[in-house]
Amino acid sequence: MSIQSQLDQMVSEASPLIAGCASLVELEDIRLQFLGKKGALTEILKGLATIDAAERPAIGMAANQAKTALSTLLDDKKSELETASLAAEMVKNAIDVTLPGVGTPLGHRHPISQTIDEISQILGRLGFAVEEGPEIESDYYNFEALNIPDDHPARDSHDTFYMMSGHVLRTHTSPVQVHVMEREKPPIRIIVPGRVYRRDADASHSPAFHQIEGLLVDEKVTFAELKGTLDYFLKALFGAKQSVRFRPSYFPFTEPSCEVDVACVLCQAKGCAVCKHTGWLEILGAGMVNRNVFRKVGYDPDQVTGFAFGVGVERIAMLKLGIPSIKLLTDNDLRFLKQF
Ligand code: PHE
Repeated sequence: MSIQSQLDQMVSEASPLIAGCASLVELEDIRLQFLGKKGALTEILKGLATIDAAERPAIGMAANQAKTALSTLLDDKKSELETASLAAEMVKNAIDVTLPGVGTPLGHRHPISQTIDEISQILGRLGFAVEEGPEIESDYYNFEALNIPDDHPARDSHDTFYMMSGHVLRTHTSPVQVHVMEREKPPIRIIVPGRVYRRDADASHSPAFHQIEGLLVDEKVTFAELKGTLDYFLKALFGAKQSVRFRPSYFPFTEPSCEVDVACVLCQAKGCAVCKHTGWLEILGAGMVNRNVFRKVGYDPDQVTGFAFGVGVERIAMLKLGIPSIKLLTDNDLRFLKQF
């Protein structure tokens, strides 16, 4: 058989094999069988040696054509099989992108912190800057400097936690008034958010709770400014419609003094456990800074006047968020906390 017909036969033998091949491994076998070093083409070309030199170029060309034809068939089949196997792979490893993802749980601020932030923001608009002070106090700062001497009956109302050292857990944020006035000269306009402690526990009292103290000292400060400030503050906090009442009261460190109540929003002022069936909740004590307090910090009470107030943060949080028991705020039950 002539070399040319051997080449033709090789191509017609290989073509259907390539066309019907179903895997890349099988295809490689076919390639080796025909075009490999020891394959059919090599075998056929061994016959070249017996051929006239003049005919060799033509036969060489025919051999190249046959080789190119097979290579093209093999390459096309190869990419066809690769595409198919990639498609199969993708079907096999398909991801359902519509499945809900695994979210990262995001925490948020505690309702008490939220309330402190909101109050600080409102009073910040009036120019009050935030100060802090120690939770463990000497008798002097918690009582004495605030015009509450040792034998003063007001000490009883504070249900104080005493420490072995003679220090106390501060019963209010008012001692920070003294620290700041000792350190700075008027004008002073500060608020002091912080934790305070009293031996007291029921639906509206907890042994550790939060207050925000306010102190403004300058020349010629009047009670009207105290009232205006608290009025603005409470309307900003509860809305213009919230009922608020000022009652005359007594604190050793302010004179005159008042207490401010808001109508109980939990029971619509009808009376409930939280407001002790009065319809009102006391949220704030206030007054004009007592002259004796100014004397203790070295201010001249004839030169400066000022007002102070102390707000109970838990009460405000309970009212604003409709929380019936103060315990819920410290139980750290996520089912409760997640609602805010
Ligand atoms: N310290 C007072 C209390 O805890 C509140 C208060 C602060 C009253 C400032 C008057 C002025 O009850």
